[in-house]
Formats: sequence, structure tokens, C-alpha cells
Amino acid sequence: MSKLKVLVARAVFPEVIAKLEQHFDVTSNPADEPWSRAQLIGKMQGMTGVFTTGAERIDKELLAECPQLKICANMAVGYNNFDVDAMTAQGVLATNAPDVLTETTADFGFALLMATARRMTESEHYLRAGKWQRWSYDMFAGSDVHGATLGILGMGRIGQGIARRGAYGFGMKVIYHNRSRLDAATEGACKAAYVSKEELLKTSDHLVLVLPYSASSHHAIGAAEIAQMKPSANLINIARGGIVDDAALAAALRDRRIAGAGLDVFEGEPKVHPDLLTLPNVVLTPHIASATLPTRLAMANLAADNLIGFLTQGKPLTPLNPAVLTARP
Ligand code: GLV
Repeated sequence: MSKLKVLVARAVFPEVIAKLEQHFDVTSNPADEPWSRAQLIGKMQGMTGVFTTGAERIDKELLAECPQLKICANMAVGYNNFDVDAMTAQGVLATNAPDVLTETTADFGFALLMATARRMTESEHYLRAGKWQRWSYDMFAGSDVHGATLGILGMGRIGQGIARRGAYGFGMKVIYHNRSRLDAATEGACKAAYVSKEELLKTSDHLVLVLPYSASSHHAIGAAEIAQMKPSANLINIARGGIVDDAALAAALRDRRIAGAGLDVFEGEPKVHPDLLTLPNVVLTPHIASATLPTRLAMANLAADNLIGFLTQGKPLTPLNPAVLTARP
């Protein structure tokens, strides 16, 4: 029997491709060529499964062109590149890559918080530019992390990891806001108190965004929300571009209406709002919060195991629309 066809849209670890090749006829993209949407649709013809990375948009229009498709496996925990309703309607399974990146991503969120609060990249640029001539008492004075109030918007697994780091590692007071309140045991384990969004904005010294992107979280932080923050506060976004109104944030940073920001994700990335690029009080990183090799390998393996589990046994590991499984003939 001929093997099912699977497309891997971006370059990934050769050992993951080799594992997929044990089960499928794999078309991969080892040179990591940028495919246009039309090229992606062309490559997807006849494919039963596709391994995506978060950059490939899977929507109704694409699905209509790919009638043989049965599964899209995202190598990302976020899946705002998927129209899950359209996938369910067409009987296409969607999977993401949760859990394996939680601690790595929480580490990075905390690193970005610290780099922002302590002005690490701004001061490094100063030093590299040869401007450091002598010590002065207030040179690059930042804000304390230990003992400060850590606010978290979006208290899923990664948010909880950041809360634990703040509470146990740095003696921070942790407050959070989420669509639904956590149970008492989880709040206790994170030493985190539930507050309204307004209270979160007003009282956080460092506000970390970890909520999923959707139409309802678009510009969850815009000019009106930033205006409620303390002038000494820092805003950290490791969630998704589009959750913050980057133009409004750039204006607030320029006018010092808040102290600083640390951003790993951007509206329209890899493009970055040009004003952000010129400001000293923002730390900018290119969407690397989950980027350690062991974690990226675990994410790639999970996406591959979803393809293998579903297409060989009907058993994916992390389905997003399990209704597709029960609806199957
Ligand atoms: C990264 O942004 C992810 O969603 O895994």
C-alpha cells in the first residue's frame, strides 16, 4: 500500500523528518524556502497531513483547495493561524504543541521582564557604542524586580510558570486576571491573587501578557489600558502580536507614560513598528520565547507524533477539535 503524503512546511530537525518518513511519503522544506500562500496551497495538493509552524494560515479558503487534507499539526502552542471552526466543519483535525514549552517560555518571559526592568539592552548598547566613560550614581537606574507587584494577564500554564518564578524566586506579590478564575489550589500553588483587569493595570509594577490571541483579545492593551498603568511600570508581551496596539505602546514609551516594555511578539511580525525600533526603553526579541534546542525538538516531536498517532491509529496526542475524531466514519 502506498504511504500517505505529508507536507512539512518549514525546515525542522532532520531526525523529526526521518521519523515521519518511517510512516509517510514526506515532502519537506530543508532549505526553509519562503513559500507564498499560493505555493503552500500548491504544495498541499494530495497531502493528507501538514506540519505547520504557526506562520502558515489554515483557513476556509485554503481548506476548500485541499479536499484530501485530514490533519494540520502546529509546532506551536498558539494556534491563531488556524481557523479551527472551518477545520472542524471540513473534518480536518487540528493539533497544537502544549506543555513541552511551558517552563522554557516562562523562563524567557521572566528574562525579558528582568532585562526590561534593569535596562540591560539599553545599557549594553551604550557600552558597545563606547559611551561609558565613568560611573555615576543614577546611570541606567532601573526598577526592582524582587518584592515588586507582578501582574499576569492570561493565567494558563505559562502564566502560572511565570507566577511561580516571581513568587518563589523573587518574593513578588503576584496578581492575575484571566477569562476564568483559577481554582483555589492552583492559586495557592502560584501564590497568585485574582483581580479585575482594571486593578491589574493600575497596580502592576511589571505586567506580563500571556493570553491567547483571538478577535476578543485584539488590542486588549491599547492606549486606554496603557493610560491606566503606573508611569513606573513595565509591560512585557510574550503572547502574540496584535494583543498590544504597538503604535499606542510606542507613543506611550516615547512620552514616558510607562517606564519600559519588553516585546517578543509584534503586530505583523516579522515587521516591527518603526517607532519601536528607535526607542531606548524597549527590549526587542524576535519571537524566541520557546527557543532552546531541547524545547524546540520536543515541540517538533509532538507535532510529528500527532501526525503519526492520528494517521496511523486515529489517536492524536493533543487535539484541538476532538469532535472531528468522533465524527469520523
Ligand atoms: C509560540 O509562540 C507558540 O505559540 O508556541
